[in-house]
Amino acid sequence: MDNMLARASGRPVPRRRSRVALASGMVGLAVAATVAVASGANAGTTLATAAAEKGRYFGAAVAAHKLSDSTYAGILNREFNSVTPENEMKIDATEPQQGQFTFGNADRIVEHARSRGMSVRGHTLAWHSQQPGWMQNMSGSALRQAMLNHVTQVATYYRGKIHSWDVVNEAFADGGTGARRDSNLQRTGNDWIEAAFRAARAADPTAKLCYNDYNTDGQNAKSNAVYAMVQDFKARGVPIDCVGFQSHFNSASPVPSDYQANLQRFANLGVDVQITELDIEGSGQTQADNYGRVVRACLAVSRCTGITVWGIRDTDSWRASGTPLLFDGSGNKKSAYTATLDALNGGSTPPPTTPPPTTPPPTTPPPTTPPPSGGCSAAVSLNSWNGGFVATVRVTAGSAPIDGWAVALTLPGGATITNTWSARATGTTGAVTFRNVDYNGRLAAGVTTEFGFQGTGTGPTGTPTCTVS
Ligand code: XIL
Repeated sequence: MDNMLARASGRPVPRRRSRVALASGMVGLAVAATVAVASGANAGTTLATAAAEKGRYFGAAVAAHKLSDSTYAGILNREFNSVTPENEMKIDATEPQQGQFTFGNADRIVEHARSRGMSVRGHTLAWHSQQPGWMQNMSGSALRQAMLNHVTQVATYYRGKIHSWDVVNEAFADGGTGARRDSNLQRTGNDWIEAAFRAARAADPTAKLCYNDYNTDGQNAKSNAVYAMVQDFKARGVPIDCVGFQSHFNSASPVPSDYQANLQRFANLGVDVQITELDIEGSGQTQADNYGRVVRACLAVSRCTGITVWGIRDTDSWRASGTPLLFDGSGNKKSAYTATLDALNGGSTPPPTTPPPTTPPPTTPPPTTPPPSGGCSAAVSLNSWNGGFVATVRVTAGSAPIDGWAVALTLPGGATITNTWSARATGTTGAVTFRNVDYNGRLAAGVTTEFGFQGTGTGPTGTPTCTVS
């Protein structure tokens, strides 16, 4: 399991500049570098290296069709070590027709990033906006199942490749009510958010799972409501690892005076915080000062693990007329860039030394019958829809520790497994056996792990058998 530091440092970070300088035999440079080292500075010269020195990532929202623009790709590759697809992983892009998934544009971004050691933020699995037409027209349990299937399919497809997923985006209303936003997803039941998080965890146990929103950057009714939800999720064991603060700022919505305090109170709940879509409209020194403030706030919160700006050049921005980014339309560094780099190179509190746990605590009550001594037991829960299902299987060790397990169950006629996660399946129809993978075979007495599978047709109905292997 790699941690934030390892990921944030995906690309080489200049550490001892003196060694390079001395090796080059350039005395002047060697003197300058010695001064830098002696003063304790280890300044990064790009956003990515400066952030990595502080154990953070620095990312940008990226559009697939711009990767062939050499100025754009040149800045991206030089300055950033994380990317977020700006639109390519949204529901309308990845499931334009129900059950038909298209990943071409998202894949181009993921491959561009991963081949260069950049991490990827996935954005977004469940959202009221940018839904394809078929989903906009759905409601009730059919929509709930379609949403869960979407979460499962997309997170499974990118399993192991995503640093953090925005599992749910913008689910709270603006204004003073602290209520959920009305949407077709909300009308499927208030528990739709936790259902989405559970499906995402089952599909990709290594990605950090984030809730992401805007107008939550300071303390207000909306952020209080998100705070209460995260607190409740942590108390009940709903798998959530991080909260994203979009941080779209302009004169009507400036950087709040309690920005850092707000990040800190969420971090105190035991989640990472990330600045996910930063842009600040304006120009000159005022804009530069605001960028500096935001960066320093993140660095002052040890669980603020990274910053993403919502585009590269001003002309790439969704709010281009507000010139809100770090590079001008020609790709030149703005004063906002310099302020950002300087802030990254300034002092900070140390980043976390141990990564937060990525395996979820048990989220459903343990089986009512005690597992047999020294053996194991298994229980299946199903999410089914017309023509398909997702099964989550909980495997629990008995009164003695075990080193491996195998779960056997029988699928009804016509059912076929299309996908399995956190286990290896033998067979796809009829009698099927699932065996543990490397990381989840060893269980202490009474401890539970989960695996899952997805299929077409109808899910299994009988009781699975668990044997120790
Ligand atoms: C924006 C994109 O930047 C635009 O290209 C698109 O037309 C609309 O969406 N909050 C979010 C992002 O979570 O997905 C939005 O991105 C900006 C606001």
